[in-house]
Amino acid sequence: MGAAAGSSKEVKKLLKKMKQGGVSCFQISMSFMAALATYFLLIHTVRFHLSRIILLQPPPLPLITSSSSSSSSCPSISSSTAPISNSLSSSSPAAAANASGGIETLGRRSGKNGEGGRSGGVVDVSPCDLFDGRWVEDGDQKSSSTTTTHPLYEPGSCPFVEEAFDCYNNGRPDLNYTRLRWKPKACSLPRLEGRKLLEMLRGKRLAFVGDSLNRNMWESLVCILRSSLDLHKDDGGGSGVYEITGKKEFRYNNSYAYRYAEYNCTVEFYRAPFLVQELVAWSSDGARKESLRLDLMDETSSVYKTADVIIFNTAHWWTHKKTSKGEDFYQEGNHVHRKLSADDAYRKALTTWARWVDEHVDPNRTTAFFRGYSWSHFRGGQWNSGGNCDGETSPIVEERHLAKYPKMVKILESVISGMRTPVMYLNITRMTDYRKEAHPSVYRFSGEKRRRGDSQDCSHWCLPGVPDAWNELMYAMLLKRLA
Ligand SMILES: *[C@@H]1O[C@H](CO)[C@@H](O)[C@H](O)[C@H]1NC(C)=O
Ligand SMILES: *[C@@H]1O[C@H](CO)[C@@H](O)[C@H](O)[C@H]1NC(C)=O
Ligand SMILES: *[C@@H]1O[C@H](CO)[C@@H](O)[C@H](O)[C@H]1NC(C)=O
Ligand SMILES: *[C@@H]1O[C@H](CO)[C@@H](O)[C@H](O)[C@H]1NC(C)=O
Ligand SMILES: *[C@@H]1O[C@H](CO)[C@@H](O)[C@H](O)[C@H]1NC(C)=O
Ligand SMILES: *[C@@H]1O[C@H](CO)[C@@H](O)[C@H](O)[C@H]1NC(C)=O
Repeated sequence: MGAAAGSSKEVKKLLKKMKQGGVSCFQISMSFMAALATYFLLIHTVRFHLSRIILLQPPPLPLITSSSSSSSSCPSISSSTAPISNSLSSSSPAAAANASGGIETLGRRSGKNGEGGRSGGVVDVSPCDLFDGRWVEDGDQKSSSTTTTHPLYEPGSCPFVEEAFDCYNNGRPDLNYTRLRWKPKACSLPRLEGRKLLEMLRGKRLAFVGDSLNRNMWESLVCILRSSLDLHKDDGGGSGVYEITGKKEFRYNNSYAYRYAEYNCTVEFYRAPFLVQELVAWSSDGARKESLRLDLMDETSSVYKTADVIIFNTAHWWTHKKTSKGEDFYQEGNHVHRKLSADDAYRKALTTWARWVDEHVDPNRTTAFFRGYSWSHFRGGQWNSGGNCDGETSPIVEERHLAKYPKMVKILESVISGMRTPVMYLNITRMTDYRKEAHPSVYRFSGEKRRRGDSQDCSHWCLPGVPDAWNELMYAMLLKRLA
């Protein structure tokens, strides 16, 4: 298989590098072991989805393990912490000059794209900017009565929602948050027809790559698709939908894949919270040392790069806390930066990602998406200092109550603008800012596990909920590509 061959190549490359003495011992041992292990695993399993080696990955960071059964509270990039320090106004002039470079937003730019389509990077087929809109209740008079009824699957009905996002089964009493749908101002979203999407994906692979917010979105899509299948044939699991290795827990491994047997397609998730390569090593006295290779993509990239649809994200891990304050943490080649700001590091990593996409992702085969920043809504503190969002039952209504557009997102947008590859940009930052009521908060745990004083989850989203709308947007954009 291609992946296995790629791995053996990796091994050879590493061996060569070792001979030339071009890499530090730390790197050699880490990546060599990993490559070797990957190689053997691939040989033995010959399944792309098993290739990531847990060995290489740092054990879950404190956030993920902070309480025994805890899921994955993400730190937030909230405006109150203002983690983003300096520089970078907005898009670079160069990127602005090539505005049509990488970002595809469908209909964002006015004027018809007379030259027929894809080459410019901007597809201008949708009747309007899908991301400029508002949340409306289903059945709202102002919205067309023919649109989907929301939620897209019954609360509590999908066995693939992990406990941390399963607010309904965890006892959250209100349900209004499941009934809102996203309505672009100037047009309507197509109804997400699961069967149609599965047909579009027949024989294909769709992969989410990123942090736990993308896992949130992945579970949403898996459930949306599942609910479109004929559940009378249900054998208890999901009507010909199954995680290929039978896993039921999604926090500790590096990759997962649901297979839709009837359609011969997989919907995969790859954990790569920074997109670039995380390294971990132990010194002789047993101290743990983590670093981040800003110049190298995460190893699993060789596995997901051939997927037919890839949805990337990275944002929430670029914080002071998770990056050792940026001190002796970021590495490029052999050089470890003494200190680097989060936004400089973020830009470097995204640039590594962008170059990798331009070089390795075949736009004729693969549709690449990048999902923008998903807001957190912690009141009165951060995720680890008593911040909370419980008791919220309605979203923000007034646009003027929204927060300032995050600088990190501007960095992201400027990097994407400079790309050769057309990237479908899921510009969901603003739309998520409204939804302060839709996080799991205390309902990240089922009732019996809930303790007073548990940290609340105001970063991820209850399912059904907000990520369903991201998938509806993705579907709307995919329709233009694959249908
Ligand atoms: C839920 O929505 C309905 C209809 O808009 C509203 O009457 C009700 O007060 C809402 N419930 C909560 C708990 O906000
Ligand atoms: C299933 O899809 C894969 C590509 O993902 C293809 O190679 C294979 O031939 C397909 N199998 C069937 C039975 O259609
Ligand atoms: C998945 O994670 C579990 C728990 O950490 C571990 O025991 C198992 O070996 C992992 N499986 C793979 C395929 O990495
Ligand atoms: C994609 O397809 C077009 C038209 O078939 C072709 O000209 C182009 O070289 C292809 N690009 C790549 C990267 O294969
Ligand atoms: C913009 O396009 C010009 C040519 O059209 C190219 O030389 C330049 O490198 C591009 N800049 C970026 C940032 O992509
Ligand atoms: C994304 O949306 C925000 C507002 O919601 C807008 O300011 C920004 O320009 C959009 N980005 C792109 C690249 O279209």
